Amino acid sequence: MQLVTEDNITDLAVERWATAREPRTAELMTALVRHLHDFAREVRLTEAEWMAAIQWLTRTGQISDEKREEFILASDVLGLSMLVVQMNHQLDAKATPATVLGPFHIDGSPELDYAADMSDGVPGATLYLHGTVTDLDGKPVGGAVLDVWQADTEGAYESQIADIDEARLRAKYTTREDGSYCVRTIAPKGYTIPMDGPIGELIGRTEISHFRPAHIHFLINVPGYEPLITHLFQEGAEYLDSDVVFGTKQELVIPFEPRDPGATPDGGTSSEPWLEGRYDFVLQPQG
Ligand code: BEZ
Ligand code: FE
Repeated sequence: MQLVTEDNITDLAVERWATAREPRTAELMTALVRHLHDFAREVRLTEAEWMAAIQWLTRTGQISDEKREEFILASDVLGLSMLVVQMNHQLDAKATPATVLGPFHIDGSPELDYAADMSDGVPGATLYLHGTVTDLDGKPVGGAVLDVWQADTEGAYESQIADIDEARLRAKYTTREDGSYCVRTIAPKGYTIPMDGPIGELIGRTEISHFRPAHIHFLINVPGYEPLITHLFQEGAEYLDSDVVFGTKQELVIPFEPRDPGATPDGGTSSEPWLEGRYDFVLQPQG
């Protein structure tokens, strides 16, 4: 019989998990066991604290459903999502940097034409976001699909609103042959991450700001290029320096310039003042 002691339990558990048939699973699980045990030793974890942590994890699972991803939020506020993004997307300095996906992306957004309005009656200041998608050498990437999503001016994403049948503030735009795209929407505002669950409960015990700066999300997945998940942030927005999910990058901050009524980037005219944001996405070839 193997006698377990505080001194040998880590080696015994590592040895057991090293039997995983797939080598990467063995590597991941043995490292996880070592780090978990080190953590418990370092803080001299009590049984009450471990039980509280297990209950917190249980609540994190229980509050999650197909519309709410509390574990993604946990990973985001711990800085783990952004660390994984940074390690896995070491792109050329010319390429558009990646940032977190977040918990609010919804698959299957409707496809809209160049400059069609994805805000469709949601109140807010009209914003045209336009520019190009190119490769590292400036060659246009035509036919690239930009999957775009954002919160409204109250900070609510579609998945946070009950009983909604239609896509709200999300759409897919396809670049033209010259790589150009144009999104018509409303200017987002900064917002708080959901504070009514286990993550909010924990954040509430700290001095951490629970806000994100105003931004719009983009997912651009073109065959032959590294998939790009990113955001554009509004220059001058509140919380740029304290983004609760560590997702802000200087290269992704752009001005939303106020424009008088008149010609809009799609060749139309606006009878109201509007805002203009320009950004050229640069994709990194795969491989
Ligand atoms: C978001 O920007 O949608 C988001 C990202 C991470 C956590 C919460 C929200
Ligand atoms: Fe967001």
